[in-house]
Amino acid sequence: MRVLVMLGAPGAGKGTQAHILARHLGLPRVATGDLFRAALRDGTPLGVAAKGYMDRGELVPDEITINMLLERLGAADAARGAILDGFPRTRAQAEALDRALDERTAAVEAALLVDVPAEDLLARLSGRWLCEAAGHTFHETAYPPRVAGICDICGSRLIQRDDDRPAVVRARLEKQLGAMEDVVDYYRAAGVLQVVDGRRPIAAVSNDLLDCIEPVPYWRTHL
Ligand code: AP5
Ligand code: MG
Repeated sequence: MRVLVMLGAPGAGKGTQAHILARHLGLPRVATGDLFRAALRDGTPLGVAAKGYMDRGELVPDEITINMLLERLGAADAARGAILDGFPRTRAQAEALDRALDERTAAVEAALLVDVPAEDLLARLSGRWLCEAAGHTFHETAYPPRVAGICDICGSRLIQRDDDRPAVVRARLEKQLGAMEDVVDYYRAAGVLQVVDGRRPIAAVSNDLLDCIEPVPYWRTHL
């Protein structure tokens, strides 16, 4: 089982890169933010409970988030592993994930931190557009879609997220970056943290991430 964790501040590019890695590695992308938004669209109690926290830029409580994520990881398509996008976000979540993987004699292979300075994040989030069907990401100026309002990849309509309003973005950055640092420390101590420069173009960041998890075999560098 291959489990890769994407870490990064809001807007750092976790989702963008998780989609690319998932396609490349043939693993599902499991994103807790998407699971909460889908639950809200379906009008479930979980979605309604999560919305209040998301609108305030706060993390959803651990017990709700951990149960939801572990249930998703138990689905058949995740039997070979998954790219986790936006989970874990607290030390308690990281520990719960380790325990659950341990029961399946697995472990987090790598925690990939997409590192972007705080001053770039507001511009990234306020210009972001996502597709309704799969959450593929675009940016008004940096990465516009070929046809305005339509996803290049699956043709669905592009929308903006409620929590990308500047006031909520500022709250997300203020309230969530401390917990992210704890998780970064957790994986650094476990020896699986890899850091890439998230300010580079999307394709360059993807290549850097793939270099971290699929090191070039010895024979390819010594031919
Ligand atoms: P979630 O949906 O995970 O949001 P987030 O962490 O705030 O991160 P984003 O999705 O906003 O950013 P991203 O890093 O994916 O960036 P993206 O690739 O889109 O969570 C939402 C909420 O749900 C949380 O606030 C919380 O309330 C709750 N939640 C979720 N998980 C939780 C958990 N585990 N525990 C508790 N609560 C949880 O890129 C952003 C923009 O930048 C795009 O426009 C993109 O085109 C552009 N871009 C990407 N890469 C580059 C690049 N290299 N150069 C230039 N532009 C780029
Ligand atoms: Mg995302």
